[in-house]
Amino acid sequence: MWWIVTILFLLNGVCDAGITSSFVRKAAPSIEIPKVHFPPPDGYNAPEQVHITQGDYVGKSVIVSWVTPLEKEPNFVTYWEADEKKNIKRNRVHAKITTYRYYNYSSGYIHHATINRLQYNTKYAYELGSGNGTRQFSFTTPPEIGPDVPYTFGLIGDLGQTLASRETLEHYLSTKKGQTVLFLGDFSYADVHPYHDNEKWDTFGRFIEKSNAYEPWIYIAGNHELDLSPEIGEYVPFKPYKHRYHVPFQASGSRSPLWYSIKRASTHIIVLSSYSAFAIYTPQYTWLKEELTKVNRSETPWLIILMHSPMYNSNNYHFMEGETMRVVFEPWFVKYKVDFVFAGHVHSYERSERVSNIQYNITDGLSTPVKDVSAPVYITVGDGGNIEGIADSFTEHQPDYSAFREASFGHALLEIKNRTHAFYSWHRNQDSMAVSGDSIWFYNRHFYPKEERSSNE
Ligand SMILES: *[C@@H]1O[C@H](CO)[C@@H](O)[C@H](O)[C@H]1NC(C)=O
Ligand SMILES: *[C@@H]1O[C@H](CO)[C@@H](O)[C@H](O)[C@H]1NC(C)=O
Ligand SMILES: *[C@@H]1O[C@H](CO)[C@@H](O)[C@H](O)[C@H]1NC(C)=O
Ligand SMILES: *[C@@H]1O[C@H](CO)[C@@H](O)[C@H](O)[C@H]1NC(C)=O
Ligand SMILES: *[C@@H]1O[C@H](CO)[C@@H](O)[C@H](O)[C@H]1NC(C)=O
Ligand SMILES: [Fe+2]
Repeated sequence: MWWIVTILFLLNGVCDAGITSSFVRKAAPSIEIPKVHFPPPDGYNAPEQVHITQGDYVGKSVIVSWVTPLEKEPNFVTYWEADEKKNIKRNRVHAKITTYRYYNYSSGYIHHATINRLQYNTKYAYELGSGNGTRQFSFTTPPEIGPDVPYTFGLIGDLGQTLASRETLEHYLSTKKGQTVLFLGDFSYADVHPYHDNEKWDTFGRFIEKSNAYEPWIYIAGNHELDLSPEIGEYVPFKPYKHRYHVPFQASGSRSPLWYSIKRASTHIIVLSSYSAFAIYTPQYTWLKEELTKVNRSETPWLIILMHSPMYNSNNYHFMEGETMRVVFEPWFVKYKVDFVFAGHVHSYERSERVSNIQYNITDGLSTPVKDVSAPVYITVGDGGNIEGIADSFTEHQPDYSAFREASFGHALLEIKNRTHAFYSWHRNQDSMAVSGDSIWFYNRHFYPKEERSSNE
C-alpha cells in the first residue's frame, strides 16, 4: 500500500503548486486595425456605434446608446417584442443627446435612451434612424432575479482595436454562450495616439457594435478612460468615456457613473473605480459600505466585484498597483464572502486561490496571504489584445496564492448554473473554443463554501 500513499502525496504536492503556463503559439499581433477598416454604416445620418447596457438595478430596463454624425433627428428608439406574432405594438422612447469636444475633435450627436418596464426573459427588436439610414437590432432581457437562475457572462478586458482584439471578440462571439459581457475597462486606447485621437473612440464603438448592440456590456472604467492631457487643455477626467458610455449608477444610490451596482439573474454585481478616491470617508467608500449591506444572497447568491486594477497580481507589469485598494476593501470582501473579484489592466491571465491578507496591522507584522474559505477568487482577464501587447514578465517565484497564470490573449466565460455551482473557463485566442486554457467549477461562498479543484491541476 505504500505506493498509494506515495502517489497521493505526489498528487497533493502538484495540487498545491501554482502553475505558470509556458504555452507558446502564434497569436494575432497587437497591431491596431486602421481606421478605414471601421467605416461608418451606409445610409444618410445612419446611427452608429450602437451599444446597450442594463438600465436599472434589477434588469427590467436597457440603456440604448448610439451616435449620429450629421443630424440630431430622429432622436428616439423604436422597440417591440420580437416574437410577438400579431398586433406588434411598437413603442418609442426619446433619447438624451450629448456632444463633447476634445482638443480639436468634435463628437457626433451621442444619444442615450433608457427603455423602462421591459418584461423579463423576452427578446425585443429595436430600430434606430430613418430613411436609408434605418438600422435594426435586438436584445434579450435577463430572466427574473432568483437564486437558481442560470446565466452566462463573458469576461473581456483591455480590448483595444488590434488584430488580436478582433480575434478575442470573434472568439467570444463564436461560443454563442455569453448573455452579457462584463467588460473590465480600457476600451479604445485612443489616448495612446497624439492628442488622444478621439476618432479612435468612434472606431472602437463600431468595432464592438456586432456584440454590444445585441447584448449588454457592463462597463467599468480603466486608466485608458481617464483621457487627462493638461498639455492640450484637457483637465476633465473620463470626459470621452462619460459622454459615450452611460450606466445606471443612480439606481444603486451612487452619485458617480464610475462606481455602481446591478442585480442580474442570480448575481449581484458591484463595479468599483480604481481611479477614483476610495479611502475612508470618500463617496466611493461610503457607497460601497452601504451597498454591501443590501446584498441578499437568498435572492442573488452570487456576489461579483469588478475593478480595473487587480488586487492580487504576480505579473511584473502593474505590480502592486492594486495594493492600496486591497488594504481598504479586502476585509469587506472576506466579511461579505464575495465570490469573485474580476479585474483587467494587466495584459495577461491569472487566477488566484481563495486567499486573504487581512490580519495585518501596523504592529503585528502579519502580511502573508493565507488560504481563506470566505475569500473571493481573484481573476485577471486583462488579455483582450490591445495595442500595448502582452504582459509576459511574471514574478519569480510564483507566489502560493497564484493558482494559474499565462501570458496569452483571450477571454473567459462564467456559467452560473444554480445557487451552488458555476463553471468558469478561460479561452486563449490561439485555441478553438472547445479548448479551455484554464477551467474550474466554482462553489458559491454563501450556499456551498467548499474548496474547489481546477481541472488543470
Ligand atoms: C487636430 O490637430 C492635429 C495636430 O495639429 C492635426 O494633426 C489633426 O489633423 C487635427 N484634427 C482635426 C480634426 O482638426
Ligand atoms: C439616402 O438618402 C439620402 C437623403 O435622405 C440621399 O441623398 C442619398 O442619395 C440616399 N442614398 C442612397 C444610397 O440611396
Ligand atoms: C431576501 O430575499 C428573499 C427572497 O426574495 C426575501 O424573502 C427576503 O425577505 C429578503 N431579505 C431581505 C432582508 O430583504
Ligand atoms: C494588531 O494585531 C495583533 C495580533 O493579531 C493584536 O494582538 C492587536 O490587538 C492588534 N492591534 C490593534 C490596534 O488592533
Ligand atoms: C447545481 O448545479 C450543479 C452543476 O450543474 C449540479 O451538479 C447540482 O446538482 C445542482 N444543484 C441542484 C440543487 O440542482
Ligand atoms: Fe489598464
